[in-house]
Amino acid sequence: MTVADPTAQASATTPPADVGESLAWSTSEASLARSVERSRQIETEIERDPSRFRILTGDRPTGNLHIGHYFGSLAKRVKLQRSGLETIVVVADYQVITDRDGVGPIAERVLSLVTDYLAAGIDPERGLIFTHSAVPALNQLMLPFLSLVTDAELRRNPTVKSELEATGERPMSGLLLTYPVHQAADILFCKANLVPVGKDQLPHLEQTRVIARRFDEHYGRVDPEQPVFPRAEALLSVGGVTILGLDGAKMSKSRGNVIELAMDADTTAKLIRKAVTDSDRHITYDPVNRPAVANLVYLAALCLERDPVEIADEIGSAGAGALKRLVIDAVNQRFAEHRARRAELVQDPGYLRQVLRDGNERANQIAEQTLTEVRQAMHMVYC
Ligand code: TRP
Repeated sequence: MTVADPTAQASATTPPADVGESLAWSTSEASLARSVERSRQIETEIERDPSRFRILTGDRPTGNLHIGHYFGSLAKRVKLQRSGLETIVVVADYQVITDRDGVGPIAERVLSLVTDYLAAGIDPERGLIFTHSAVPALNQLMLPFLSLVTDAELRRNPTVKSELEATGERPMSGLLLTYPVHQAADILFCKANLVPVGKDQLPHLEQTRVIARRFDEHYGRVDPEQPVFPRAEALLSVGGVTILGLDGAKMSKSRGNVIELAMDADTTAKLIRKAVTDSDRHITYDPVNRPAVANLVYLAALCLERDPVEIADEIGSAGAGALKRLVIDAVNQRFAEHRARRAELVQDPGYLRQVLRDGNERANQIAEQTLTEVRQAMHMVYC
């Protein structure tokens, strides 16, 4: 593996963080800028040689995917896979229970995710889709990995902290505290070196790299020439604007402000007609002062692959009604094919389950091989 190690420079000047000496989270603007810059370089490296990368990505099966997921991550995954990158997708079912009391209608939700992956164009022949609950050896990596992190760094993980806040008064479960380590197992069981994520997931990537490095320092190698685990890097979506819900607030299923990929054209039209706008009849693209209107313009722009300012100029004084008609057509056209494929796939649950069965089987082979190496590195092969 010849992937540049983003932590290498830091460890040349500072002693390697050891267990007992906790990881200091880099949450500064400067470190975000470095991650964005590195992602740009990686994009170039992908163009040059896609075979150097293995991608691991995934979602929690907590509900149906919506168009925010589509433009934020799913479309990108499909594009990366088509450009020749091996793409492994985890349906992160254990992550569902980090911050809630039950699993919900999990079987339905898992199949819904698989359906949207396939409808969007993820090709199970050129990668795999699996659920981590079906891969015991992946989960077993959690034990040695937990030995390599401190409770202090877990408690300070910025993403865990904000997720805990979002649960209100609910006490933190041991799984919420340690799920970044489980996510490291998702990434490292298959030795992925690239993880396309939003910036909220950067701390998990940092934790994953630290675990990989500490594993090497503490437990050693099988092949003296290379560590057991690669240093996985984030591929940030560059320049992406966050899509808001139709009421101008953060997208959330419970607010009913999202357009799900599974919705039909009429439901989509009804939702968009009810979208919040403002009293200024003249349409402009001004995300700071007119977030709700700008969001609708942006949505049309994404669907039509056009410039939002141009779209706003064209509508001009035709007003919010004209804007909404444009957005309805743009969304329904953009997702017509996805929805048609989706409807076909839903008719064939046997096929969806087969895709998952094949993915799970393959994931188990990979995980068992990695676990064997881990046991060898740790001198835990006795008989
Ligand atoms: N935590 C991710 C999310 O909420 C989902 C996820 C689970 C994931 N395991 C992963 C993402 C591994 C990337 C890599 O979106």
